[in-house]
Amino acid sequence: MTIIVTGGAGFIGSNFIFHLHSAHPEDRIVCIDKLTYAGNLSTLQSVIGAPNFRFCKLDICDRAGVEALFEQERPDIVVNFAAESHVDRSIEDPGVFLRTNIMGVSVLLDACRKYGVSRFHQVSTDEVYGDLPLDRPDLFFTEQTPIHASSPYSASKASADLLVLAYCRTYGLPATISRCSNNYGPYHFPEKLIPLMIVNCLHDRPLPVYGEGLNVRDWLYVEDHCRAIDLIIRRGRVGEVYNVGGHNEMRNIDIVKLICQKLGKPESLITHVADRKGHDLRYAIDPEKIHKELGWLPETKFEDGIQRTIDWYLANRPWWEEIISGEYQNYYETMYGNRERLE
Ligand code: NAD
Ligand code: TYD
Repeated sequence: MTIIVTGGAGFIGSNFIFHLHSAHPEDRIVCIDKLTYAGNLSTLQSVIGAPNFRFCKLDICDRAGVEALFEQERPDIVVNFAAESHVDRSIEDPGVFLRTNIMGVSVLLDACRKYGVSRFHQVSTDEVYGDLPLDRPDLFFTEQTPIHASSPYSASKASADLLVLAYCRTYGLPATISRCSNNYGPYHFPEKLIPLMIVNCLHDRPLPVYGEGLNVRDWLYVEDHCRAIDLIIRRGRVGEVYNVGGHNEMRNIDIVKLICQKLGKPESLITHVADRKGHDLRYAIDPEKIHKELGWLPETKFEDGIQRTIDWYLANRPWWEEIISGEYQNYYETMYGNRERLE
């Protein structure tokens, strides 16, 4: 089979390519990536050169380019990870989120229709459901939870989900959607909570916690997410949405304190700063459907996953030092430079 993986030079897409490469060596993998600030070709160095792997620098919004690639490759399956993915950036500049996360998806959907792929899989997020209150630990997102996005990022992902389901119903496109909770692991871009805190700790820099740090996220090790997507594209039912998460809810402040402890750094580095606008309180996934239908369960416990992640950042300094030495410095200054410090 030929599988097109879009956004494969980013965090989850690259981990998915590594998973496919080792679990299904018989498949051909074609990675499409625009190489935005979040895409990094060096991440893929272990597969570049493999006979069953091709990298193609391409914007998913480039209709002619996408069609030409589909014409050449005639893919069986397309898995779409390509997206603008950071909530804080979407609050500063929503436009590019609408372009890539909605219009880009429509280009891929049209190409999938035209070339008759046997499966299009949209990698979505639990953020399309909005948030849950902090004082109702009995509530979880199920696939029936109404879409209720809070940020421009989650609104763009929700729009794409609606488009995918519409193509499924109107044109009979064989599509599936997964909505996963927060991932962590190797190759995570250091603008996101866990890698940002690891990198700042290693430089003895302030650790910027938004508000009181009481917001809750449901963390899943990236490999568990990749296994779930692999199962869905091969055995999931067409037209269905699958929630993916491992019942691992943690408050931001507790994650940051744990990272300090593991790296032997003082908690005095923690700096409470002005909260994110519209900040979602709590995400929590009910993964019953994917467990019952496809037998998926998370395999990595948070204690092990976070240790592996920290060890990876310690062992792979050149990967993230290269990132933080460039444009990232302007990003950091814009986002955090003038951010109000709370007592
Ligand atoms: P990421 O930002 O690390 O990577 C995104 C990749 O997409 C980059 O390689 C980038 O270059 C590429 N890209 C961006 N715009 C493109 C375009 N127009 N054309 C082609 N390529 C383009 O993101 P990630 O964290 O790996 O997330 C991947 C997907 O998973 C996203 O769709 C995101 O919404 C979803 N998701 C992420 C999480 C998470 O915790 N990170 C959780 C659930 C779902
Ligand atoms: P993030 O990694 O951006 O993922 P998402 O917003 O998609 O869940 O943020 C995770 C949580 O950490 C979120 O509640 C915001 C918070 N956060 C901070 O407190 N400080 C930071 O510097 C960042 C980037 C995030």
